[in-house]
Amino acid sequence: MIIAVDGPAASGKGTLAAGLARHYRLPHLDTGLLYRAVGLAVAGHVDTPQFEAAAIAAARALDATQLKDIDALTAAETGVLASKVAVIGPVRQALFDYQRAFATQPGGAVLDGRDTGTRIAPDADAKLFIQADSKARMERRARQLEARGLVVDRYALYHQIEERDARDMANPNGGFYRAADAHLLDTTLLDIEAALRAAIAIVDRAVASK
Ligand code: DC
Repeated sequence: MIIAVDGPAASGKGTLAAGLARHYRLPHLDTGLLYRAVGLAVAGHVDTPQFEAAAIAAARALDATQLKDIDALTAAETGVLASKVAVIGPVRQALFDYQRAFATQPGGAVLDGRDTGTRIAPDADAKLFIQADSKARMERRARQLEARGLVVDRYALYHQIEERDARDMANPNGGFYRAADAHLLDTTLLDIEAALRAAIAIVDRAVASK
């Protein structure tokens, strides 16, 4: 069984995908981490003419099985870098094979990201598109960062999320539209447990109706 979970920044898709993976005992891939690792690798080239070539080389050289330094990868600034490398077609191409192989491994998998239901696994058995309003997403991300002991500027974080949404939605190489057969789940008013219950119900229904 392949489950594809897509949605905008801080929508809760990662937490839900991890919960679904536990529930169905499937391996889970957070595909955003791949883009984040490439972004982090070329942080020194931002706004230089070498940025694109460096990002393509970093994506081709990435060992996706060896992602380390999760704190740096999940930092808000790294998300912005990730969204900048994610608009480069050859970067997406270089990361495709690993994601596709992960999705199609025997036994199945859960993947979350932006294009897992449209590009990586258009053949997924269940597709979810997770949505939440930007204020709710900002507040959740702020609490995650504060739980790690970081000081959060909510105003800046809100703008970062909006900026990232705008770049992701306009990405000419993205395919970030909701797949026609994806089930919409709005988590604005749901806590984690309620959202996970709703996601499991959607997957069970999608699989039963196959
Ligand atoms: O899900 P996330 O916040 O970790 O993703 C970071 C950035 O990576 C996001 O702004 C866009 C990009 N991304 C992508 O283009 N395609 C994916 N499948 C996952 C992430």
